[in-house]
Amino acid sequence: MSDFMELCLKRQSCRDFSDRRVEREKLTRCVEAARLAPSGCNAQPWSFVVVDDPKVVPEVAKCGQSMGINGFLSKAPAFFIVLEEQANLMPGLAKIVDSRYFVPGDLGAAVVHLCLEAASLDLGTCIIGMYDRPTLRALLSIPAEKNFGGYVAVGYPADAAVRPKVRKPIEQVVRYV
Ligand SMILES: Cc1cc2nc3c(=O)[nH]c(=O)nc-3n(C[C@H](O)[C@H](O)[C@H](O)COP(=O)(O)O)c2cc1C
Repeated sequence: MSDFMELCLKRQSCRDFSDRRVEREKLTRCVEAARLAPSGCNAQPWSFVVVDDPKVVPEVAKCGQSMGINGFLSKAPAFFIVLEEQANLMPGLAKIVDSRYFVPGDLGAAVVHLCLEAASLDLGTCIIGMYDRPTLRALLSIPAEKNFGGYVAVGYPADAAVRPKVRKPIEQVVRYV
């Protein structure tokens, strides 16, 4: 099995974090990996807020618990909040390509790079889809016109055991032509 495939299996949603704080260097490495993700026209329509201040972390966790789920976020020692940024397009390209179509895929790619690098550093992550955006916006002073692109809890897993993946069988999702 390739190293990359092993990493894909190791990356799993972590829903129980240990008390250990995450080193800033490791958090920065994750952002570095996210920054290296591909994007349509290389527009790189993203920026990253890394939350590791113990005074702010619990407030960010609460935003991810607004639906009455995700209680485990209370133990997360840090979060990545991904923001959508203006496309960084060459002027000629901007005339012929509407790169807004690519943004959801670009942001997804960045989030996955981030999570895979975290796994390579023995960190656990959990992507959260539903969160209280207005409260998070106010908490992190995010301007009204900026969209959220991702909310990811990160920390050392309390249990590093790798769970079997639950996925559709490959025959169901592939077709060769
Ligand atoms: C957009 C998105 C939103 C998610 N939201 C939640 C969530 O609110 N709570 C949670 O525990 N997991 C959440 N997950 C994690 C998924 O449940 C998980 O990725 C999926 O079950 C596959 O498991 P694995 O990540 O361990 O491989 C989310 C994942 C994505 C991509």
